[in-house]
Order: sequence, then C-alpha cells, then structure tokens
Amino acid sequence: MGPDRGAARGRYATSVPRFYVTTPIYYVNDVPHIGHAYTMVIADALARWHRLQGDDVFFLTGTDEHGDKIARAAEAHGVSPQEWVDATSRRFVEAWEGLDISNDDFIRTTEPRHHIAVQQFLQKIHDNGFTELGVYSGLYCVSCEDYKKESELIDGNCPIHGTPVELLEEENYFFKLSAFEGRLLEWYEANPDAVRPSSKRNEALGIIRGGLEDISITRTSTRWGVEVPWDSAHVFYVWYDALVNYLTAIGYADDPARFDSWWPAVHHILGKDIIRFHCVWWPAMCMAAGIDPPAHLLVHGWLLVSGEKMSKSRANQIAPSDLTDDFGVDAVRYFLLRDTPFGTDGDFSYEGITARYNADLANNLGNLLARVATVVGSKCDGMGPGADPDSRLAAVSATVVADAIAAWGEGQPHLALEATWRLIRETNAELETAEPWKAEPGPAVSAVLGSALEALRIVALLVSPAMPDTSAEIWRRLGLDGRPEDRRLPQDATWGGYPGGRAVEKAAPLFPRRSE
Ligand code: ME8
Ligand code: MG
Repeated sequence: MGPDRGAARGRYATSVPRFYVTTPIYYVNDVPHIGHAYTMVIADALARWHRLQGDDVFFLTGTDEHGDKIARAAEAHGVSPQEWVDATSRRFVEAWEGLDISNDDFIRTTEPRHHIAVQQFLQKIHDNGFTELGVYSGLYCVSCEDYKKESELIDGNCPIHGTPVELLEEENYFFKLSAFEGRLLEWYEANPDAVRPSSKRNEALGIIRGGLEDISITRTSTRWGVEVPWDSAHVFYVWYDALVNYLTAIGYADDPARFDSWWPAVHHILGKDIIRFHCVWWPAMCMAAGIDPPAHLLVHGWLLVSGEKMSKSRANQIAPSDLTDDFGVDAVRYFLLRDTPFGTDGDFSYEGITARYNADLANNLGNLLARVATVVGSKCDGMGPGADPDSRLAAVSATVVADAIAAWGEGQPHLALEATWRLIRETNAELETAEPWKAEPGPAVSAVLGSALEALRIVALLVSPAMPDTSAEIWRRLGLDGRPEDRRLPQDATWGGYPGGRAVEKAAPLFPRRSE
C-alpha cells in the first residue's frame, strides 16, 4: 500500500508522496465501542506511519447523521434530530481524543459543506442520465438502513439485527446501478489490488456477478436528510449521502485543485459489514458522476467479544474508555493492532488482552527498558554508552527494520509489530548471555549496553505509529532530543544512531505486570 505519487496539479503540485486515508463515518444512534475503535486505530497507525516516512497525509473520519434510524432515536429521546446528533457526534470526537487518534478532519454529514457536495455530486449523476423515478416497495430494516430480500429473512426478521422488517412503499428516484455491471467487472479486472484482501475482493465480485438491481436513492417519508436538488419533495437516502463524505472533505465542491491532488488515490478502510456499499455502489456512483473510482479499499474483519458479535441487545458492547482506563491507551492500541491479522475476524477478551499485555509489553518491552536503565545506572553512572558497530544486533535490526517497513507499507500492522518484537527479544537474549550486571565496568559492558540502548531507540521509532506515547517516553528516558515522530524512516533507523553520553533515566516500569 505505497503512497501515491503524481496526479497532483496546480498549487498542490508536490514531489512529496501523498497518503489519503479514511474510515467509515459512524452512525450517531450508537455510542462508540471497541469495534469502531478497531477501525480507528488501524487508520491512525497507517496515517502516523506515512507521516513518519515524510509523506503528506490527510486522515479523515466523522459521523453519519442522517436517516430514519437517527430521526427515530432523537424522537425516542424527546429531542430534535439536530440536538441529538450534536450531542452524540461529540461522543465520537471525545472517544477518538481519548485513543490518541490523529485525524486531520472530522466530517459531520449535517454540515453545510457536505450538503453542497452531495447535491453537486448527485446532480451530476442525474444530469448524466443515471437516475429515474419509480415506485419502490420493499421490506426495510431501519437498523441497517437497508432493504432486505424475502429470502434473506430469518423468521421474518432482519438476519443481522433479529428485529422485524417493515414494508415500505414510496415513489423514489432510482440509481441505475444495473447499468454498471459490465464496467464494474472491467474495473475489478483492471485493478486486481483495488479491494484487499483478496477474500473480500471475491466477496464483492460475487455480489456483482450475482446481478445488480437499480437502487432507490431518495425518500419522501422523512425530511431528515440532504434535499434532492432537482425535486425538493425528496431527500437522499442516507447511504447515498454518506459515501460522498470522502469527496466533501477534500474540496469536491469548492476546491478542484485540492480535490485533484487527493482523488482517486484514497485508501478507504472499512469493516466487512459494508462491502456492498463501498466496493459495489461507491465505484459505480463515482463512474456515474464522471470521476474515477477510489483506488484502494481495505476491508477488515469483525472484532468479536469472546466469540460473539457486539450488539446492544446482547449488552456486550465495550466502550474504548473502559479499556483505556484499565490498561492504558497504548496497550489497547497495541492489542488492537497486534492481535488480529488484517482482514480476518479478531476476538477481544480480558484474558486475551491481559496475556498479551504481560507477555509483550510488561515482560518484553518494559523489562528491556527497565533492566538496561538499571545497569546503565550501576555500571556507567547513568550515562548511556554509544552503540557497538560490531554488535550482532546490528544485523538483526537491519532485517527487522526492513520487514517492519514492508509490513506497514502493505497495511499489515500485526506483522510490523511482530517483526519489531523480534528485535526486542533478541536484545533481551543478548543481555542474558552477556550478563553485564555481573561484569566489571569496561569496554565490553559499554558495548553491550550501548547496543541495547540503540536497539531501544530503533524500537521506539518502529512502535511510534502504534504507541505514540510509549515511543516518546522511551525516547525521553534514553536522553534523546526532540520527538520520535519528527524522525524519518528508514534513514533514522540505521544502526549507530544512538550518540552515547546521554543521561538514561531510571523510572517506574512502563507496563507494570498485571495479574492474569
Ligand atoms: O455502517 N468489528 O456506520 P456504523 C470491527 N454509517 N469493526 C467494527 C465493528 C466490529 N465489531 N463494529 C463496527 C456505518 N465496526 C455507516 C458507514 S461510511 C460512508 C458509512 C466499524 O456506525 C467497521 O469499520 O455501523 C464498520 O464498517 C463500521 O464500524 C460501521 O460503523
Ligand atoms: Mg453498523
């Protein structure tokens, strides 16, 4: 998943690679839970990784605030839809602040800038002849904001929510999705890596090959939406407005040069629940409006809780703050990134996060930092020696850095972190062998300790996208100047960068061991 070069025009022309990354915009009828956090932390780590490479990054998230589901939630709480979305959107902003998410913009679909972009984009589709008026009658699940086929229902209920569907019949505008079957298949053929991983690409292709029906894209039954510019009796169907957020935020309606500098080289991160909307509808909508489809769609699996899907009815939703209060922000981020290979379903359990915390963070990383600082205190008067150029760890580090860079570049945080932990383990092993705490101070002890400090410096750089605070704290304790996130990779991760002659701080354990 390399950054995208070229394509930049006008005042945005630049030789710096650009990385535009988005998350789905979350429905505000719900409160943030660790499933949403899972998407956010992946997107954030990738954004931070690209910043570390010196790329020009734009990281977008936000909230999806229209549709019947929201209007009904507001009514149930006795407030206006606007009051409701103002309050609930705020909870997402706060949750992401609490997780150290570094988004550059936060879009709300109720903002005027978004209404303008949606109207402009859909007017284009209308003008290009890809809409038509018709009567829609179908079974609708309000929780999904989606129509269901009779055959999908389980005992007459939505297969996802287990709640009754409603018969909806109204005059709607339709988008001629069926006209795009051939073009979508050609696009998939020509862009084999557009949707990743390949299992998810196959799922999207299966939907297209199964045949596409035109879709109803407007509603007259609610006013809570973006007004259809050519027929004010209608508002757009919420999904049709929501997807356009990815264009709104980069100046689709008001800054063509800025828009061209980021589109279509976007990386959309999304969960597998919304493949059809992103990997079938969205590319077709872009084609219909006369713009290129999105270049990269990265589909992750579900995060389950002790093997089950999170839901309000099962009351097994976990708020991100419950976990961060308990384990700390970086430990939660680490768990989310490290535990599950991108694209497969993951599982959260207290046993699982505790085991990983103790093994990887307390015993490996935390212990390495603590023992090195202690021995530098006792054998070197607290002044860190420089790295040994001939250390065995130099070669280990070079491989680890190359592997981590490749894995981050491919959007595989768990592999990047796995590689990084190899360096941590090898450094601990080196110390076990040399036992500098038993030796007399001298050149041999300095060489071992200097190399361990150098390995820690490189580890701090490599973990910074995943654990920004931990990275900064290791950096500070090693006596290094500035901030790790201002360094550049790969050049600053070359063996030998630890200068020596710095006061190394002995302080409380970074990750105190927890009882299992
Ligand atoms: O679908 N595991 O919003 P949404 C992993 N508004 N990821 C999860 C998850 C879980 N258990 N639960 C949620 C919508 N997610 C629309 C999107 S975009 C133009 C409109 C994440 O609030 C995952 O990324 O239901 C999923 O795709 C997204 O939250 C859905 O959030
Ligand atoms: Mg959902």
